[in-house]
Amino acid sequence: MKNPAQASTRPAHSLPVRIMHWVNVYALCCMLFSGWEIYNASPDLPFLFPQWATLGGWLGGALAWHLSAMWLLVINGAAYVLYGIFSGHFKRDLPPPSPKAFLRDMWAAVCLRLPHKTGHYNAVQRLLYGGVICILVIEVLTGLSIWKPVQFGGLVSLFGGFVLARNIHLAMMILIVGFIVVHLALVAIVPRTLVSMFKSVPSDPQEANDA
Ligand code: HEM
Repeated sequence: MKNPAQASTRPAHSLPVRIMHWVNVYALCCMLFSGWEIYNASPDLPFLFPQWATLGGWLGGALAWHLSAMWLLVINGAAYVLYGIFSGHFKRDLPPPSPKAFLRDMWAAVCLRLPHKTGHYNAVQRLLYGGVICILVIEVLTGLSIWKPVQFGGLVSLFGGFVLARNIHLAMMILIVGFIVVHLALVAIVPRTLVSMFKSVPSDPQEANDA
């Protein structure tokens, strides 16, 4: 039987999750802004990213930023996934939601009736967080394919060739930006979640996430 007092002293986000989350934000910002500079050097869609939203100053500088931030993103991401698996964080806090739970929470969110419990993710959040983690993995793998297409020839074939791998890389970037917009909107709706991502705040004393 769970002890409610114990449950309420668990921090909403453990220190490793908080550190890795902010390292991820820094690495991803560097990746996005330098990636837009690289795209601008050889655009394959009818638009360019504005210069103020790019990093690196020119193609060579942007590539240097993109590749060094990629190592930070990959090492931090691998540490997060290993931590998530071995600490039980994924199993306890981020289990994939059932379609029923997702539809119920999505409907409640649309009606602006979805309550937020500190330290517990609702089904919409769990789908969004699980989804963006998978998208980031595809983003890195397609990035490796177009960076070293000879050495990672197997990966290039898996993604249907160089051109398709580049387009998937671009499509995943758009999904990541879409995630960030929704994520920041949700944080703005419940600003106290931001505090819990900076310092240790006890989670609400309710352990179970509905499947
Ligand atoms: C400045 C930008 C960002 C802010 C202010 C922010 C803020 C937050 C906050 C407050 C939470 C906790 C939500 C809650 O307790 O209900 C959270 C969780 C999370 N955020 Fe962000 N976030 C940002 C950027 C990102 C980015 C760029 C990503 C990845 C693409 C991301 C992925 C996640 C994930 C996966 C979680 C769940 C972490 C876990 O418990 O393992 N965030 N974020």
